[in-house]
Amino acid sequence: MNEKIVILDFGSQYTQVIARRVRECNVYSTIIHFNTPAAEIAAMKPSGIILSGGPSSVYAKGAPLPDKGIFELGVPILGICYGTQLLAHFLGGKVEKGLKREYGKGTLTVKDSSCALFSKLPKSLQVWNSHGDKLTKIPNGFKPVAATENSEYAAIENRARKFFGLQFHPEVVHTPRGREVYANFVHGVCGCGKNWTMRNYVDQAVEEIRAQVGKEHVILGLSGGVDSSVAAALLHKAIGNQLTCIFVNNGVLRSREAEVVQQVFGKNFHIKLKYVDASKRFLSKLKGVTDPERKRKIIGKEFIAVFDDAMQELVGQASRLSRGQQRTTEQAGRLSHYKFLAQGTLYPDVIESVPIAGNPAALIKSHHNVGGLPKKMRFKLVEPLKCLFKDEVRLLGEELGVPKEIVWRQPFPGPGLAVRILGEVTPARCEILRNADAIVVEEMKASGLYYKIWQSFAVLLPVRSVGVMGDERTYDYTIAIRAVESQDGMTADWVKLPYDLLEKLASRIINEVKGVNRCVFDITSKPPGTIEWE
Ligand code: XMP
Repeated sequence: MNEKIVILDFGSQYTQVIARRVRECNVYSTIIHFNTPAAEIAAMKPSGIILSGGPSSVYAKGAPLPDKGIFELGVPILGICYGTQLLAHFLGGKVEKGLKREYGKGTLTVKDSSCALFSKLPKSLQVWNSHGDKLTKIPNGFKPVAATENSEYAAIENRARKFFGLQFHPEVVHTPRGREVYANFVHGVCGCGKNWTMRNYVDQAVEEIRAQVGKEHVILGLSGGVDSSVAAALLHKAIGNQLTCIFVNNGVLRSREAEVVQQVFGKNFHIKLKYVDASKRFLSKLKGVTDPERKRKIIGKEFIAVFDDAMQELVGQASRLSRGQQRTTEQAGRLSHYKFLAQGTLYPDVIESVPIAGNPAALIKSHHNVGGLPKKMRFKLVEPLKCLFKDEVRLLGEELGVPKEIVWRQPFPGPGLAVRILGEVTPARCEILRNADAIVVEEMKASGLYYKIWQSFAVLLPVRSVGVMGDERTYDYTIAIRAVESQDGMTADWVKLPYDLLEKLASRIINEVKGVNRCVFDITSKPPGTIEWE
């Protein structure tokens, strides 16, 4: 990671997208807080700096402003939208309230094709705008290089200092050739090569893990999801037998989940795997519970308890506890060689978000992840994925030989099938849903759609209706099929599955899954619906 682009975050909803666009150019990028001191930024030795957009006005009271020392570092700077207005604010230009907010698609006309940002791009480009304020005087030493219908300074440059400002957003998909603008900046202007690849990253990550862990041992909670699976493979490559994974069967897993994880990680990768079948424990706690939030809380709490017990066992064994003495995990931990707990934390979880008014990250459901383990466990953390985005984790997984079935699997919620069984979760209902869900997964894979969409699954409704099968009257449950398209799970559209696929799904589920006699298809988007039913 010798070459890097530093992105100063001024609270734009697109900051992470900028970071990803840069990385798609095979250049490492990192997001930092807008007021990071210039000396700290200099110490990072960036090849270039990007000033993100943001919802503020540069003249507003309390507007987020960077350390003005960044303009003296001799490093190329690219301002996006609000970032461009900052260039004007600090370097002698002028920003005014636009008469009308420029929002949506626009056409950019490149006036000076010799500008490095537009190298090899046509003179006319479709771009996406989203700004209220507008540049009315460009800063000293700058020249306009492109214009839109509404703005004669849609792109400006100071060629000598390698400073650029864009009023539009090249990072969003509605600026179709925006990736090339970023590529021109990072390669053409900043001179970065294409060194950020997962192949290179493996060696670096392995070295870092070894340096951090030394001869100590590491525990990892393996869920079978993409992140913990790739973390397991990476850690195993780095430290082999010093890694022990704990896999908890919470009784609400999908069909064959426990077998697949044991097969892939235990048998194929030869990872030390502690399999804890706690399904009875979970299901007994869920008995009689119908409230969705309570189900989530119970599963989250129980998971921590089971995981704690499993760790205590490992740590206890390792510290050779004898005489039947019960010690706390903390006491045992001091004696044991298990000093580290690994987590599959990703980059978006560690970026300190800039809390700009009007942009609160609302918690709608209490999400359950391994992150909530009790503080009393005095483990040091290893987070080998914490500088990666999800798509990079997948590429890393492929690089490490994790099977496609796991690397490219759809998201699955921590509370598992419990939030897809409406009403009480009983072993019999789990069995029905597991069987129906397995058919959905199988048919979606056969149709080629499984890996193309965000999620597709079955939901069991506690509603029974009348049907006829053969000569018999039935009175059975209903399965809802849910298939959604989404970028990040925050918003989603239902997928228009082909009729023949829907027909096959319904017919197989009703014929093959005992206890079901009706199938419906969920056509709710998010918002107003959520993806999971509970
Ligand atoms: P909702 O249902 O809130 O889900 O629209 C958005 C995305 O998050 C997944 N999801 C979870 N993931 N723990 C997780 O790790 C959870 O508790 C959880 N609940 C929902 C859901 O599958 C969808 O992809």
